Amino acid sequence: MAQTEVMPAVEQQRIGKTSDPCTMVIFGASGDLTRRKLIPALYNLAKDNLLSREFAVIGVARSPLSDEDFRNKVSEDIKQFATDKVDPNIWEWFVRRIYYLSGDMADKNLYLQLKDLLDKVDRDHSTHGNHMYYLATAADYFGPAVEHLAEVGLMQQEGQRWRRVVIEKPFGHDLESARLLNQRLLRVAEEKQIYRIDHYLGKETVQNILALRFANGIFEPIWNRRYIDHVQISVAETVGVEKRGGYYDKAGALRDMVPNHIMQLISLTAMEPPVSFRADAVRDEQGKILHAIQPMSSEDVLTRTVRGQYGEGIVGGERVPAYRSEPGVPPDSKTETFVAMKLLIDNWRWADVPFYLRTGKHLPSRSTTIVIQFRRAPFVLFRDTPVENLMPNQLVLHIQPEEGISLRFAAKVPGPAMRLGAVNMSFEYSDYFGVIPSTGYERLLHDCMIGDATLFQRADMVEAGWCVVSPVLDVWKALPPRNFPNYAAGTWGPKEAEDLLERDGRHWRNFEK
Ligand code: BG6
Repeated sequence: MAQTEVMPAVEQQRIGKTSDPCTMVIFGASGDLTRRKLIPALYNLAKDNLLSREFAVIGVARSPLSDEDFRNKVSEDIKQFATDKVDPNIWEWFVRRIYYLSGDMADKNLYLQLKDLLDKVDRDHSTHGNHMYYLATAADYFGPAVEHLAEVGLMQQEGQRWRRVVIEKPFGHDLESARLLNQRLLRVAEEKQIYRIDHYLGKETVQNILALRFANGIFEPIWNRRYIDHVQISVAETVGVEKRGGYYDKAGALRDMVPNHIMQLISLTAMEPPVSFRADAVRDEQGKILHAIQPMSSEDVLTRTVRGQYGEGIVGGERVPAYRSEPGVPPDSKTETFVAMKLLIDNWRWADVPFYLRTGKHLPSRSTTIVIQFRRAPFVLFRDTPVENLMPNQLVLHIQPEEGISLRFAAKVPGPAMRLGAVNMSFEYSDYFGVIPSTGYERLLHDCMIGDATLFQRADMVEAGWCVVSPVLDVWKALPPRNFPNYAAGTWGPKEAEDLLERDGRHWRNFEK
């Protein structure tokens, strides 16, 4: 088997510098994100010595709780959501620096109270007045919260003292609203104070796209239209909309996944080599790709996009209800839970190489993959091989839940005749590096605390993502779907998604356990 040449285990821990001293204010502290991801991620950073000793957290939410109540609550939650065994000493250290403030985020008074509390906490924990405001709230609060923070002086930076705000998705619900939100934020804050988070960029395997492409000499020369036939990006989920029907029905699969997560995957796969890994060098190249995606005409939308909504079906052996029967979803909902489309990138590297993407809820397996399909070799030499065995090479980046890379190539089937079969060469992270338990937010929180915005989206990138999907939203709105539901839960989406590739003589590669 493969020989591993890896770092010793201790060095495999997250390598990095301790974060700057700071107080992190979490707006939306009673929500799911806080208990499932943010607190466990902060704890992991503390455990790995990446969190400054001069650190504190203030949770802000509506429910009236005392500091002690909130500490008890997070201490209960961590038992469920920690990614590894909790060390009581580290937890004790961490929980003692958690505070709570209750109030209405639309009310300026809350921010005045926050200012007083921050003064005290900054003094008690020597956090140098550095603040990271994390908006883990409904999107309606993003604009008002940052304006209020600025109004009471909490966005003001002086000397070494920094003030940064982390904004969750959805960043706008279309191009226009994203632009307005950017304008609103940039009136009271500088671009470099705004960290638009996309949790896909916290995934190790997503960051590894850069390592694969730019730390290896063998891929870059063939990473272009001369050798690559097409790219398939699939983000398949087995979950339905769970309890998020209210949010999801207004968003839909396109808004929920494409302008953000899938655009990140496209831009990292397609970008030119940046001149360095500095934030703007990387983001400039990502931005160029997003701007180069060919805008779709109404005609293109009709021929190059597919939408679907799940009906009842069987997922993982369990019968599940149709989308329209989910809580919070109207019985005649026209919202899509599946989307597939074909995009083209108008630049020298990618001209005429289609990027097919698809994402959906209640598909047969959870798998996020990027399939790079290479052009066929001239197979004239292998006349005796059945055509279905002549499969072109595919390099597959397995983003999740499998984490690794595999390469499909042809090999001779043993026997007297020259016959071919497809075989896979594969690398799995866990075989080489072990598994470092993580929520996927550690790196992003830490980067924000050290002022590295490389993995966060700039205003122009968010807007470019919306530019791609806006024409689709417009056409879909003007022509509501007539055939929903059009795929059974537990299948790979509507038939039209298959047709989209078949018309071009191609097929989706599905990964099922
Ligand atoms: C979120 C979407 O941003 O990403 C969800 O709102 C989706 O609908 C989720 O399920 C997928 O994230 P992950 O990390 O599970 O792939």
